[in-house]
Amino acid sequence: MKQKVIYSGIQPSGIMTLGNYIGAVNEWREIQNEENNFCIFEVADLHTITVRQDPAALRKNSLDMLALLLAAGIDFKNSILYLQSHVHEHSELSWLLNCYTYVGEMNRMTQFKEKSEKHADNINMGLMDYPVLMAADILLFKTDVVPVGIDQRQHLEIARDIALRFNNIYGDTFTVPEARVRKMGAKIASLQNPLAKMSKSDPNPNAVIGVLNSEKEIISKIKKAVTDSGSEIIYDPENKPGVSNLLTILSIARKQDMDSLVKEFEGKMYGHLKIATAEAVVEMLRPFRERYEEFRSDEWYLMQVAKYGAERASVIAEKTLKEVKEKIGFVL
Ligand code: TYM
Repeated sequence: MKQKVIYSGIQPSGIMTLGNYIGAVNEWREIQNEENNFCIFEVADLHTITVRQDPAALRKNSLDMLALLLAAGIDFKNSILYLQSHVHEHSELSWLLNCYTYVGEMNRMTQFKEKSEKHADNINMGLMDYPVLMAADILLFKTDVVPVGIDQRQHLEIARDIALRFNNIYGDTFTVPEARVRKMGAKIASLQNPLAKMSKSDPNPNAVIGVLNSEKEIISKIKKAVTDSGSEIIYDPENKPGVSNLLTILSIARKQDMDSLVKEFEGKMYGHLKIATAEAVVEMLRPFRERYEEFRSDEWYLMQVAKYGAERASVIAEKTLKEVKEKIGFVL
């Protein structure tokens, strides 16, 4: 059976949130262990500079993210793990794909509109072009499946459109990728506004759990989580988004199915649910935090991991880029 190529990425812009962990990274670890999958994961540092970054912070955050991914169980030997900026083919394919993407398509992107509002003083071309770079990431590796949270779905659609358009003009070149969005946990909500996603750029620290937050912080934030009117604990994302968010987090942290969880909390109060959720999150993250300290304390090791990943990613990326350039008609 042909191996399936699985590709995904995460930006090293500050912390890794519980949303990133549950919606993406934790899933990556599991996908790695499924038979016939060949997984490639990037720290998407090129994407990060669409919002102004302090150079020292970017350097630190990129190594932090690498250590976080290793701590989360990403297997850098069987999978490929690397920093996007170490593989120059991303930038080059991105330019080529720009010429097969319409301005109107980019203008319609929800994330572009949101980020333009948030960073009104810096609506740079990169911010608009972000989905094309993401398409280049995915298409360079002839990816079959892209595991992502719900917020990245629209970007995946564009990557598919670009792949199909290119293939229509030049013949079969790119694999048309499919999104893999988990049924539960693909949109972990802010603890302070259950209708918004938990986002690392949220200015309210009580809205977001960082995977490296202390146990005390995690407990305090979950205790302060906004819940819904009424007192019944049921899973109903539409009418009870706050309670449903906590139930989702608890279900994933404990690996317990939703039905049995709801049964367990019959007749109990929101306070009980909050305490149980806080404890489960603390337990889920404890070993992760310990492993992180170990990996992060050895920068030499992290650099070796990054180099090893980039070398292997480059072999594949170079081959695809050459094929694309040849098809377009460049003299090679
Ligand atoms: P980023 O860095 O914003 O997020 C990384 C992954 O975490 C998911 N995620 C969430 N899932 C559930 N609940 C949440 N509250 C939550 N917040 C974030 C995201 O959906 C994502 O899967 N553009 C991407 C990075 C990227 C990429 C790629 C992904 C660059 N190139 C190629 C896939 C393929 C991003 O900014 O993710």
